[in-house]
Amino acid sequence: MKFSTKAIHAGQEPDPSTGAVSIPIYQTSTYAQEGIGKNRGYEYARTQNPTRSALESNLAALEGGRACFAFASGMAATNAVMTLLRAGDHVIVSDNTYGGTFRLFDKILKKFGVEFSYVDAREPQNVEDAARPETRMVFIETPTNPVMSLVDIKAVGEITRRRGVRLVVDNTFMSPFFQQPLELGADIVVHSTTKYLNGHSDSIGGAVILNDEEDIAAMAFIQNAAGAIISPMDAWLVMRGTKTLAVRMKQHDENGRIVAQFLSEHPKVQRVYYPGLKSHPQYELARRQMTGFGGMISFETGSLENAGRVLEGVRLCTLGESLGGVETLISHPATMTHASVPEVERNRLGITDGLVRISVGIEDVEDIIADLDHAFGAI
Ligand SMILES: Cc1ncc(COP(=O)(O)O)c(C=O)c1O
Repeated sequence: MKFSTKAIHAGQEPDPSTGAVSIPIYQTSTYAQEGIGKNRGYEYARTQNPTRSALESNLAALEGGRACFAFASGMAATNAVMTLLRAGDHVIVSDNTYGGTFRLFDKILKKFGVEFSYVDAREPQNVEDAARPETRMVFIETPTNPVMSLVDIKAVGEITRRRGVRLVVDNTFMSPFFQQPLELGADIVVHSTTKYLNGHSDSIGGAVILNDEEDIAAMAFIQNAAGAIISPMDAWLVMRGTKTLAVRMKQHDENGRIVAQFLSEHPKVQRVYYPGLKSHPQYELARRQMTGFGGMISFETGSLENAGRVLEGVRLCTLGESLGGVETLISHPATMTHASVPEVERNRLGITDGLVRISVGIEDVEDIIADLDHAFGAI
């Protein structure tokens, strides 16, 4: 099956008890058992839920993995992956991940004796140079949030494979429609399903997709033991979202390219970060590693004041955190998504006070451009 067919059919067999074409929302905490040790494969809903299982089969198929585990949020998914580690283990992280990922590593997991090194992973050699005998994992986000720099998954995968270290890729920005990290050599993919997979800004969720049998068994154990599962309603909402993932992503990509071009030519914009622009320093890698560029763009307005004018001047674009919904969302990384990153570090990474991030939706692109153009008038 090709991608769009899998998105609609994988894990979506009609419900066995009624034939319902849309998988029911099994809103139950437990299941009736026939006798001691006799049940229909379902005992307690933290451990198994048919709606969640259907979503997990669907996402495993889309990412080309053997198994998927769905969680209550993207952060819960990342946290579950990190519990594969133990005290004394060392992790190499691409600097410039989502602020919440950095916060989880720096403020919580460090306390349990896991060590983290943050490297500029645009250059794979930096990953190699940071490796220690106790390194057990490399965690990357590509494209990175919010300055859209890329990590060469294949090149880093060669390093991790040689060293027997797991490579984890946060594939939230591209979705499996545009980027397939497992095929490129990653071991584990994590998602905030809250974003493109759900696509309608009406659910919070996360997912882990992987291939290694031992890690699959460990993740099944962790999902049940720690219990940060996605709810049946949210699982259903994400599944409804993935059915249209292909058509939505094509439109996000088409609109994204047009808006990026408009921004790059606008006199009030000092710099645009979008991997689909030829001026992006990793444009060639983007073309090699992704099959589209998506709808995430950041741009520099020059100052906090200018950023404020744009953010308050828009009428169609919604000022808010998050991304990947059908509606265009606009945000200010320095005070919103990346507020937990220290200021010095933010400035080093290019997350300046004047930086604005836009998640281009699938409205008519002329309307998005007219809205931005009007807002720029206030600068
Ligand atoms: C790239 C990326 N990864 C992970 C997350 C965390 O996901 P969630 O908000 O679903 O916990 C986010 C949230 O913005 C994100 O942008």
